Amino acid sequence: MSIRIKPVQSYLSAAFQIVSLALAGATACWAQSSAPAPNAQLAAKALNQKVEALLKQMTLEEKIGQTVQYSAGFATGPSGSKLSYDELVARGAAGSLLNVIGAEHANHYQHIAVEKSRLHIPLLFGDDVIHGDRTTFPVPLGLAASWDPTLIAGVARTAAVEARADGVNWVFSPMVDIARDARWGRIVESAGEDPYLGSALARSWVEGYQQGDLSKPDSVAVSVKHFAAYGAAIAGRDYNATDMSDITLRQVYLPPYHAAVDAGAATLMSSFNSINGVPATANPYTLTQILRKEWHFDGFVVSDWGAVSELLNHSIGPDGATVARKALEAGVDMDMEGNLYATTIAAQVRSGEIPEKVVDEAARRILRVKFALGLFEHPFTPVTPAYAPTAANRAQARAVAAETIVLLKNDPVEGVGALLPLGKAAKTVALIGPLADSAQDMLGSWDAQGEPKFAVTLRQALTERLGGHLLYAPGCGVLSGEDEKTLLEGKPAPDDAASIAEAVEAAKKADVAVLALGESADWMTGEATSRTRLGLPGNQEQLLEAVAATGKPVILVLLTGRPAEIKWAGAHIPAIVEAWFPGMEGGHAVADVLFGDVNPSAKLTVSFPRAVGQEPLYYAQLPTGRPAHGDLSHAPASGPEKYQSRYIDEDNSALFPFGWGLSYTRFSYGQPTVSKAEVGLRDLEAGRGPDLTVAVDVRNAGSVAGTEVVQLYLRNTSASVEQPVRELKGFARVTLQPGESKHVEFPLGFDELSFYNVESKQVVEPTTYKVWVGGSSLATAETSFKVE
Ligand code: BGC
Repeated sequence: MSIRIKPVQSYLSAAFQIVSLALAGATACWAQSSAPAPNAQLAAKALNQKVEALLKQMTLEEKIGQTVQYSAGFATGPSGSKLSYDELVARGAAGSLLNVIGAEHANHYQHIAVEKSRLHIPLLFGDDVIHGDRTTFPVPLGLAASWDPTLIAGVARTAAVEARADGVNWVFSPMVDIARDARWGRIVESAGEDPYLGSALARSWVEGYQQGDLSKPDSVAVSVKHFAAYGAAIAGRDYNATDMSDITLRQVYLPPYHAAVDAGAATLMSSFNSINGVPATANPYTLTQILRKEWHFDGFVVSDWGAVSELLNHSIGPDGATVARKALEAGVDMDMEGNLYATTIAAQVRSGEIPEKVVDEAARRILRVKFALGLFEHPFTPVTPAYAPTAANRAQARAVAAETIVLLKNDPVEGVGALLPLGKAAKTVALIGPLADSAQDMLGSWDAQGEPKFAVTLRQALTERLGGHLLYAPGCGVLSGEDEKTLLEGKPAPDDAASIAEAVEAAKKADVAVLALGESADWMTGEATSRTRLGLPGNQEQLLEAVAATGKPVILVLLTGRPAEIKWAGAHIPAIVEAWFPGMEGGHAVADVLFGDVNPSAKLTVSFPRAVGQEPLYYAQLPTGRPAHGDLSHAPASGPEKYQSRYIDEDNSALFPFGWGLSYTRFSYGQPTVSKAEVGLRDLEAGRGPDLTVAVDVRNAGSVAGTEVVQLYLRNTSASVEQPVRELKGFARVTLQPGESKHVEFPLGFDELSFYNVESKQVVEPTTYKVWVGGSSLATAETSFKVE
């Protein structure tokens, strides 16, 4: 059996591919210019003729109205707005509303827009549908750990169907910010640290939501966020500045946004941060030069919540009018909850400060998306019965969640063997920890319309399996006592001695203890939740150590939205599982993995630090002139060995690295081979590729079926600009029966082998590439090839 992998592909069904190809073919001849159009619908001539006809009828105020968005529902940012949305919509003074949920609620405003406003222009309804709408899937960082673009497209599909039923035609997803700093709370919304994987997953989110055809009644327009480089906020502090070279911006941070645009993303959201001193929400370089001129994006850009008005805090203008003009002229087409486009743009157009064509262009881009969505023909949402999860929703949520759970460690215990999967010997299980029975935490941050009442906790799931043989003790709170204060002031958590003692007693009565520990999904992960300490919060470490001291075998199940600092557990707890916040069916999915009904296959997409001081920590480091080497168990205080790029008090390496994840079986790798020892530089430059194939045989050397994520890493050993010590350039999920082998091939071409030079040009140069293939970023099976 042979598998040929090309991650730059569509992940939806063959039927979808045929439809989208037909569509692209049909519309290509209408395209307005010779520039490539990433979204053929938005570039289509017939659609643009309608847009132009409408624009001609619009007053300046009506055009500006299209560029204005308000939250007419709950607030997802600082807000004090007391506007009458009925009135604004009737006047054509709002082009979009966000956080309006439910068909009736949306229809209320849509009726006003299409029946009472002068030109009957329908509204866009935006919402943060991030990892499901009603059916809650695992948080995005967990979904990414599946390394499964097809699975993600399926999640986006279900979310789109439910969002449309809720009146939402525009989702503020996917979040494609590269996140390499575990202190940043929004790492939970990301796909992790790697641009190659991030790009593949960004593509599948867009395809799943938009289906290559925005006019389908169950497609939603995406808003790819947060453009750009928001994940690189200095020191991991949310909303902070980012500062990086153009090479790093283009090579590491921009690829996932570009992939999403190439996949046809209808809209992007500009970010809160500044980039090299220029706020991303008023940044002509990213918003116009790169996005419009280089990537040929035809959709529109919405600001993040209040980001236009926050330009005043960024101090790039003396007043609201100036900063609004800067944002609009840079390429932010819609002002989300800033109320500055609404109040300052018209006067500036009238005074000649802003050319009217700038407003026309913003309105044009927004109207294109409305036409493409078919809102002029079908503005309303059919009212459907209240949501209750179906068996199909639950089955999908459970299967998806099981694919996101990472087995970090499963060392044999003396006299028992590997603790996982739990076997017959585990008759009585003690389930301990503050997250063992918290339905809200199963859902994760940004849970859209997910409801805790539909979530299955680990306690519920284990009770279903074990009945009276399950003992339960929370042990302590996520923080305990005056929770938030304890965290904020870095105080020791209050005394939990009595409840820890109860947990210890439960463990003593059991054959095995399962500890469900981690963060509060709600207020320790997601937006505005940066942390300086990454260990288990509150008294959870104390609880873990007390239970481990009983001598009973301990399995640690982590529920976190970021890599946790778990050095003690890494050394002393034999079995560790990272379950993230696994969604509505999370309890069942974790139980499926613990009991071996599902053989885990997920792999980390973020590096777990040994100590928070290593952050930002990622595998694709640039080389240093003094690489760390030799025995690093202690730092030499003096002598030639002292002068290495390393910490004096900690190893450089991750506790659990990128790509890491175990299985209940073992996979063995053959020697990787290359189809050619040398690739011609000219052929690569001509971009005809793929130019070369790396192949490897992977075998299931264990006794149960399993799925391995086969990973290909490259190192460019000699370039005009230094290149990372390793970079992911291919991956494949391969399912193998015991004893079965598969031959996996990774095609490589210009996309995989090019990099940005000092002139910010994407180039290939003569060099030798080292190649590794394996089951994590530590892969050792090696080969090489040359580019000449
Ligand atoms: C967040 C965005 C979100 C927006 C709308 C902002 O605070 O940064 O990710 O889409 O609010 O809710």
